[in-house]
Amino acid sequence: MNKIAEIKNLSKKYFDKKHEVLAIDNISLDVYEGEFLAIVGPSGCGKSTLLNIIGNIDNKSSGEILIHDGKKIGYMLQSDCLFSWLTILDNAILGLKIKGLLTSENINYVKELLVTYGLGDFMESYPNSLSGGMKQRVG
Ligand SMILES: Nc1ncnc2c1ncn2[C@@H]1O[C@H](COP(=O)(O)OP(=O)(O)OP(=O)(O)O)[C@@H](O)[C@H]1O
Ligand SMILES: [Mg+2]
Repeated sequence: MNKIAEIKNLSKKYFDKKHEVLAIDNISLDVYEGEFLAIVGPSGCGKSTLLNIIGNIDNKSSGEILIHDGKKIGYMLQSDCLFSWLTILDNAILGLKIKGLLTSENINYVKELLVTYGLGDFMESYPNSLSGGMKQRVG
């Protein structure tokens, strides 16, 4: 199988005025195409921090992340981060809107995805009427 991502000796420290937290301490792992990889560990062990760094939402302190073949990273955050005043469809197309890619073809594709994920009947609903798992699928 092709290696699509390599994480080498990754470390992350958070700082505030009084404390230093070593959230990730020298992690290395490879990800292969088609592989399902689970990162398991107790609360606070650094799972979200690792994904935030791989997803380019946060900075590493040291180490290397190599993503091969220009592959894009899609990342469902731990919190769904949906806007409560937007419908499910409007939340789902927000990224396209911001990027100026809101074509009818793209909107239809998003609608198809919502149907695929069992959210077809909720496109005009608001996040507060969805379950936690449903909101995560929208995210
Ligand atoms: N923005 C931040 N500033 C300071 N410390 C942080 C920050 N984010 C996370 N931490 C600390 O880094 C460590 C790892 O946090 P992280 O959120 O990655 O854990 P987690 O494994 O995802 O936990 P959970 O299973 O509860 O979601 C924790 O000690 C946490 O307090
Ligand atoms: Mg987490």
